[in-house]
Amino acid sequence: MARGVSVIAIDGPVAAGKTAVGRELARTLGFGYLDTGIMYRAITWLALNNGIPVDDETSLGELARANPLGLVGDDSDQVLVAGHTLGPELRDSAVDSNVSMVSKATPVRIELVAQQRQTAAKGNIVMIGRDIGTVVLPDADLKVYLTASPENRAKRRWQEMRDRGKTVELMTVLSETVARDQADSSRKDSPLVAAKDAWELDTDSLDVQQVVQKIVDQVGDS
Ligand code: DC
Repeated sequence: MARGVSVIAIDGPVAAGKTAVGRELARTLGFGYLDTGIMYRAITWLALNNGIPVDDETSLGELARANPLGLVGDDSDQVLVAGHTLGPELRDSAVDSNVSMVSKATPVRIELVAQQRQTAAKGNIVMIGRDIGTVVLPDADLKVYLTASPENRAKRRWQEMRDRGKTVELMTVLSETVARDQADSSRKDSPLVAAKDAWELDTDSLDVQQVVQKIVDQVGDS
């Protein structure tokens, strides 16, 4: 395997497979793994629990600056913030429906991007999100942009929700998925878009292992 690749950015829309692929890829390469989505989710949870309006960008920025996030474990599914260890709470429907609004706030993005760059500075990392290849780590050694059809992505999210014991209609998940895509792609600051030098990978007909293998092959060729 080529030793030239140390920082890997994976971006893409909701449920394109970033989490499963990123985690497995990091394990395969022996790299660290950071899901930046949970950082926006943690600040959203904190805002909701502190009565901070999710459209008050200045207060959200102050909240993010005053409460640096600690990452717990290797799987990037828990965050330590303001004395709370947050895990499943980060996937609550209140967080789901407000996180796009919070992640629009430039002062929040400035703070979280700084924390993300600090984490990446150590190298040997797979980082996933929406703006990793475009804004956070524009010099990443390898940039992957994962896509899949809205229908397939909604089905994956619906299955994940059912696995977590949530009963929800597939059509509801599909319309939420399309709405989140729209919000993430149309915001002014750091919209969801593939970096010009990203490798676009359609995961519609691939399972996680096949996607990981394709990326590992690409790392080997880099
Ligand atoms: O990947 P996710 O669903 O956990 O992300 C939650 C929200 O955070 C999503 O609406 C987009 C936003 N986000 C972002 O704006 N930038 C990132 N780097 C990661 C996530």
